[in-house]
Amino acid sequence: MCGIFGIVTKEEQQLGPTLIEVGHRLSYRGYDTVGAATIPQAGKVDLRKDVGKVQEVADRLNFEEMAGQRAILQLRWATFGAPSYTNAQPHLDSDGDMVGAHNGNVVNNVELRQQFIAEGMTVRSENDGESCVHAVERYVDQGDDIISAIRKAYHDLEGDYAFVVGRLGEDKLYAIKKGSGLVAGVTDDLTCIASDLPSILPITREIVRLNDGEIITFWAGGYEICNVEDGSLVERAPELVEDSIEIVQKGGYDHFMLKEIHEQAQVAGELFHLLENSSDIESMIAKLKAARNIYIIACGTSYHAGLLGSIYFANLAERVTIPVLAPQFIAHYVPTVGPEDVGIFVSQSGETKDVLNAIQAAEKRGMGVLGLVNVVGSSLMRASEYYVPLACGYEISVPATKTFTNQVVGFLYLALKLGGHETAALANLPQWIDATIEAVERQIPSVEGKISPWDDLYCLGYGLTYPIALEGALKLKEITYAHCEGMLSTEFKHGPLSAVTEGYPVIFVAGPDDTSLIVSGINEVTCRGGRAIAIGEEDARLRANADDLIVIPTIEAPDWLRPHIVALLSVLPLQLLSYRISLARGFDPDFPRNLSKTLTVD
Ligand code: M6R
Repeated sequence: MCGIFGIVTKEEQQLGPTLIEVGHRLSYRGYDTVGAATIPQAGKVDLRKDVGKVQEVADRLNFEEMAGQRAILQLRWATFGAPSYTNAQPHLDSDGDMVGAHNGNVVNNVELRQQFIAEGMTVRSENDGESCVHAVERYVDQGDDIISAIRKAYHDLEGDYAFVVGRLGEDKLYAIKKGSGLVAGVTDDLTCIASDLPSILPITREIVRLNDGEIITFWAGGYEICNVEDGSLVERAPELVEDSIEIVQKGGYDHFMLKEIHEQAQVAGELFHLLENSSDIESMIAKLKAARNIYIIACGTSYHAGLLGSIYFANLAERVTIPVLAPQFIAHYVPTVGPEDVGIFVSQSGETKDVLNAIQAAEKRGMGVLGLVNVVGSSLMRASEYYVPLACGYEISVPATKTFTNQVVGFLYLALKLGGHETAALANLPQWIDATIEAVERQIPSVEGKISPWDDLYCLGYGLTYPIALEGALKLKEITYAHCEGMLSTEFKHGPLSAVTEGYPVIFVAGPDDTSLIVSGINEVTCRGGRAIAIGEEDARLRANADDLIVIPTIEAPDWLRPHIVALLSVLPLQLLSYRISLARGFDPDFPRNLSKTLTVD
């Protein structure tokens, strides 16, 4: 997730220190290049940008000395175009008198670049932020004033983004919001905009929130907002934000975990667009097709995503893969692997020591290394020949939620591609995820009290929902401190059934293809006095047999694909249930005892 910042001050001043500070505050979003520009009234734009961390780039290019009244800063997390000087933002227009930067994805970037080149513009990079600048340049060159040009460009730029732009010879900057975050802050001496509130709160607490489809023109101490569709002015006074930075970082949610659960629709949508436009996917698929054996190697939640990925590969691409916990990969398979084999290493952090040990062992045997990884620049990302970037931004809460979902989305996408299927249906993921969260949040309160007093329970699934049951059990143990075992539902009768007493809770995750089998499991529990809590789509059999049913809204997807999506959606009630039970038991779900977000030890 990229971040943008723009500022206009009353007096000419050294803006470098502010740019560096804001860069640090935006850096939690994840990035691989950093760039800044100051825009004088006359002369040349001072543009400095490069690959690296905020402080490294700022030191190398001496951001500190950057001075002026207007400046733009951008942290870029690579989507269109590799992380490089050329693709780093901000970008200049053809003749260098306009500069801009964006956050988000312009999904028709490739087509637009071709048009701009054909129209004679100077296109320097592959990056979609540059397309935003040229999209405005196109209409300015045709004689439009800047606001009309931005309004027309808005219709040419497909996707979700926020964009800031400025020109030489003026004292203003302009920004537009379409789907990505954008807020403004104002004092008597300056006005600024940024991708998020926490990055500007230390500058001012007088905040103007922008809506999608609005353009803000801002100058030192003032601003004007207009509607992109008809150009009409929008009256909006600043509001005073008194919340602490920590509360603001949580985006109005009580915990990072809840915020991150709610971010899943957005990040899944962003990942899907990113994959649709990735030039690496074909190379990854070719590598997988050519492999003798494919191993999926990970720990914890990432392993559960890999296990579901392995079922996706079998069902959708008829390809056997071997999912294995990273340390066990070393103990069990390393002696047999070689250059003909490929490992897909999955890790949110990309720094889990158990995973890095497995990579090292695999590399020694010449095995191919692919990655599914969230943290940009991490060891796994650097070790991978090709990788799927999970594009989740920073996940602060120790329990992994949005990164699990995007790992699963990544596997689903790869499996569909490997199997030669269309991927277009995945464009509905954000809508399906949001609908499920909304529906489930209404249902959880009536169920949580039946589970929260118990220190011991089971979570069972079958087939596609087996990895989800394991993941649900991990979430429950991790943040409620109750022991919850995840298991294949059919195994329960082979021993654990003896745990069932009056009211003993057993959660069943029912996929559409396996409901009958799950119903037998439910009856084995309920006839012994246990409490069966089912999670699944509305189904008369589940309704009649389970004590409680948490309903996932029925989605419209082709029959062959639907159970795979339902499995992914089934994790959402388990995440929310764990969160609520953690609170009911008096714990902090974000920072469970004894655990750390990244385990860099053996
Ligand atoms: O960073 P990784 O994905 O490699 O971390 C692996 C596990 O430590 C991690 O998934 C852990 O199980 C989760 N925090 C559980 O929510």
